[in-house]
Amino acid sequence: MSRPKVLITRKIPTPGIELLKTECDVEINTKERALTRSELLSMAADKDAVLCLLTDKIDAEFFDAVPNLKGVANYAVGFDNMNVSEASLRGIPMSNTPEVLTEATAEMAWALLFSVARRIVESDLFLRSGQWKGWGPLQYVGTGVSGKTLGIVGPGRIGTSMALMSRGFNMKILYSGNRKNNLLEKELGAELVSFSKLVKESDFISLHVPFWAETKHMFSASVFKEMKKSSIIINTARGAVIKEDDLLDALVTGEIAGAGLDVYEFEPEVTENLKILNNVVLTPHTGSGTIKSRDDMSVMAAVNILAMLKNEKPPQCINPEVFE
Ligand code: DGY
Repeated sequence: MSRPKVLITRKIPTPGIELLKTECDVEINTKERALTRSELLSMAADKDAVLCLLTDKIDAEFFDAVPNLKGVANYAVGFDNMNVSEASLRGIPMSNTPEVLTEATAEMAWALLFSVARRIVESDLFLRSGQWKGWGPLQYVGTGVSGKTLGIVGPGRIGTSMALMSRGFNMKILYSGNRKNNLLEKELGAELVSFSKLVKESDFISLHVPFWAETKHMFSASVFKEMKKSSIIINTARGAVIKEDDLLDALVTGEIAGAGLDVYEFEPEVTENLKILNNVVLTPHTGSGTIKSRDDMSVMAAVNILAMLKNEKPPQCINPEVFE
């Protein structure tokens, strides 16, 4: 019997690839870039399953181009690149990679928060460029974190993990979202507040909402105006939750004090003028980028594909209605 054919749209860590190879013929995009649309459609055309990235658009046109498709596994927890309802209509299961990247992404939010608050990147550049002539009382003085108020927008898995990591810093935790988070309330005395209260009272705001119509441009000019002038915003969720032009204005006019960004509205484009601001730290969407979490994501995606190829419900199915 012939083995199922699987496309992996970009080199991923080997554990997942090896696992797939035990049962499937695997084709991998070995280029150091994402596939173009036409490359994706033509490489996927004869496949039974596809392991794709958050940069691959999986939509009706894609499904039309892949007639034997039994399932698609996204190598990401966020799946705003996939048209899930279209997949469900066609009976095609899809999966994502929750949990294995929760802590890595929460740690990244902290890394950005500290980098902006304590001006790590600017001061590192200052030192490397040979300008440091000795200790100075006014050099690179930043903002403290301990005892401040942290606002978590979207207290799901990653938002909760980030909040729990604040334990050593004795912070007041506010969160906004659709439901009460008992763990955060019990462990940290966190308070569920309205979005507008969170925005007005937080010293640090960290974004952890998925991207969909309701969260698009959740942070735009009118919201930045409500924030404390001393506040810092951190985004490790999805870029378009923030209206990037408005963020730039808020940073330039001093409406807010700083930003730590791992994701961008028009990825991989980054608003050019953000790059020249000292009160901004920018990372290239590496929130989940620890060795373990990327390895685990690859295995998780592979396990899901193997199930889909057997017409079984994949463990991390995002459209279980396909199996009802
Ligand atoms: C995700 O998983 O959604 C991240 O953005 C990439 O790991």
